[in-house]
Amino acid sequence: MNTSLNELEAAGRIAELSTTLNKYNYHYYVLSESLISDLDFDLLLKELEQLEKQFPHLAEIDSPTNKVGGGITKEFQTVKHKYPMLSLGNTYSEGDLIEFDNRIKKSIGENFKYVAELKFDGLAISLTYQKGKLIKAVTRGDGAQGDDVTANVKTIKSIPHQLKIGNYPDEFEIRGEIFMHKKTFDKLNNNLRKELELKGFDEDEIVERLYKNPRNFASGTLKQQDAAEVAKRPLDAFLYFLYSDIPVAESHFESLKIAASWGFQVSDHYQLCNNLDDVLTFIKKYDTERKNLGYEIDGVVIKVNNYEQQDELGFTAKTPRWAISYKYKTERAITKLNKVTYQVGRTGAITPVANLTPVLLAGTTVKRASLYNADEIERLNLFEYDTVFVEKGGEIIPKIVGVDETKREANASPVIYITHCPECNTLLQRKEGDALHYCPNESGCKPQLKGKIEHFIGRKAMNIDSLGAETVSGLFDKGLIKNYGDLYDLRAEDLLNLEFEVGEEEEKKKRSLKEKSVRNILDGIEASKKVPFERVLFAMGIRLVGETVAKKLAQHFQNIDRLMQAELESLNSIHEIGDKIALQVANFFKDEINLRIVEKLKLRGLQMAIVEEIGVIRTSKLAGKSFLVSGVFSRSRDEIKKQIEHNGGRNVSAVSAKLDYLLAGDKMGPEKLKKANELNITIIDEAAFETLLQQIL
Ligand code: IVH
Repeated sequence: MNTSLNELEAAGRIAELSTTLNKYNYHYYVLSESLISDLDFDLLLKELEQLEKQFPHLAEIDSPTNKVGGGITKEFQTVKHKYPMLSLGNTYSEGDLIEFDNRIKKSIGENFKYVAELKFDGLAISLTYQKGKLIKAVTRGDGAQGDDVTANVKTIKSIPHQLKIGNYPDEFEIRGEIFMHKKTFDKLNNNLRKELELKGFDEDEIVERLYKNPRNFASGTLKQQDAAEVAKRPLDAFLYFLYSDIPVAESHFESLKIAASWGFQVSDHYQLCNNLDDVLTFIKKYDTERKNLGYEIDGVVIKVNNYEQQDELGFTAKTPRWAISYKYKTERAITKLNKVTYQVGRTGAITPVANLTPVLLAGTTVKRASLYNADEIERLNLFEYDTVFVEKGGEIIPKIVGVDETKREANASPVIYITHCPECNTLLQRKEGDALHYCPNESGCKPQLKGKIEHFIGRKAMNIDSLGAETVSGLFDKGLIKNYGDLYDLRAEDLLNLEFEVGEEEEKKKRSLKEKSVRNILDGIEASKKVPFERVLFAMGIRLVGETVAKKLAQHFQNIDRLMQAELESLNSIHEIGDKIALQVANFFKDEINLRIVEKLKLRGLQMAIVEEIGVIRTSKLAGKSFLVSGVFSRSRDEIKKQIEHNGGRNVSAVSAKLDYLLAGDKMGPEKLKKANELNITIIDEAAFETLLQQIL
């Protein structure tokens, strides 16, 4: 541990540790993946704690030392549960349920009923109401105590903050499950995908960073420190259990009806069952029907209905004797691992892939499964030719969930992660804290080179849609193009009747280019010469330069020559262009090969400068001022935003203390308005904005 650092060194180390730990936390809580062992995490956290103790004035309020230990977040208050939050015994078979039923009959006789309900796949929550008002929402935690997440839970629309007048007790607790609808999950994940695409991440890195499933996403969301952030990721809740010192009903079934009448969201999918047969019918019904629900369930919960009978049955140390959960089996297949292969993406990111003996799973044949990264292979303790279990969970790509070690061949050796690129044999690199390995041979590694050309012709880049990935690959393999600059040298006679192979290994086909496709390809390439400079810049595939950054750079430097000459400092001084991006840009234009390609693009007549729109007046009246345009105006928001930029101002997308003006239109979001008011931001309407433009010299 660094106990002998001077103050300056300590400040540096504290910043470094905070960034690293925040990243691990984000991956752990939001993306539900561990990039580091608990032990290593704790060591780093301890080092930070030690430094903060030694230099208290350097400790930041939002330091990771104030946030996490294990599962319980420090900034949430820990609250002891009035009634412990127990879990349920799990069963997976009819046989187990028959045993459960027999045990109950032995204890209380034959005269009882069950309630069968869905087992929602989310997080348990306990809500306390006093005089109809929600006063506390606490997570399950370890069952005895949990985190007070009231502020976050209050963002859930279906949870009432105040009940309407009714005959509920002065104080009661209601428990249920917080979850995220599949549609919400898909939407937010798609947004994240777009954001990552814009930032220039390639497919492997995107898949690595996407949220894994609704449950983990809901869990990460509920543990967010900022309730405003939680509100952006809508959660929902079903309530299923009432606790009160004064009894409100004689049975669980009645309680559910009563809770619904008080205004709580109770699921419609529950049923009073006269016997185990009824329960089994319910289970069967929902095994099919669960696919049509908008949220995920992982089983059915079965509870003895009558409260007196529940009391008679009592509890074991951990679970009630009067309830049990039946878990649906996730469809799982057993197959054999034949080989681990490694794919190389456009940015050099390596993805290990398990090649399996084909096996039928949930209606499709599975031949491959992603292994994500080296840590995953280690976690699975995967050996060559292992017998593996494959599942199709919430994720789309099948996943290896485990290994049958009993079937392992005696002389098998563990899968060792490659050290060199499978395509170009360059030594792989793995940066600290990054889960992925990379091949650094950007200018000589085939899939990276092909990937760059594919990116160049993409819809958001040069949009040469007459060329596809397969044609690019064919042209590359034939030596007709080595980089995207070479596209502009292609001639009809090079392409006509050119034969190349397409399709995956086992199903390769020959294709040859006919006259019409050749025409289309060449026309598409020609038309791309009109694509504006900012998109050309994006198409070049400079690492970390996504659409937005490309736009900023284009606007700032106006043409490629000025951008190429820019020093690190001047790149860095552009708003929202950080050190990392600046370095990538500067390095890109230091590379001899890149310089030659750019030279060719210029010669072939691509747009290498911003073209002024005719009639646009530019001033610097709004220089240095930031604006957030929100709501509906007499003109389109884009038009207003352009006007701001033409007058030297800057558009931002979120309210922060640094914002100069909030330009508020009709129907703007109340949250933004509230936050702007809290931060004392100047709020102006459209008329005031016009005046501003006229008044400032
Ligand atoms: S009843 C003592 N009902 O499953 C009664 N639990 O394994 C405890 N769950 O921690 C809970 N749906 O998070 C109950 N309809 C349902 C449920 C449900 C999901 C969860 C809950 C609980 C876990 C028990």
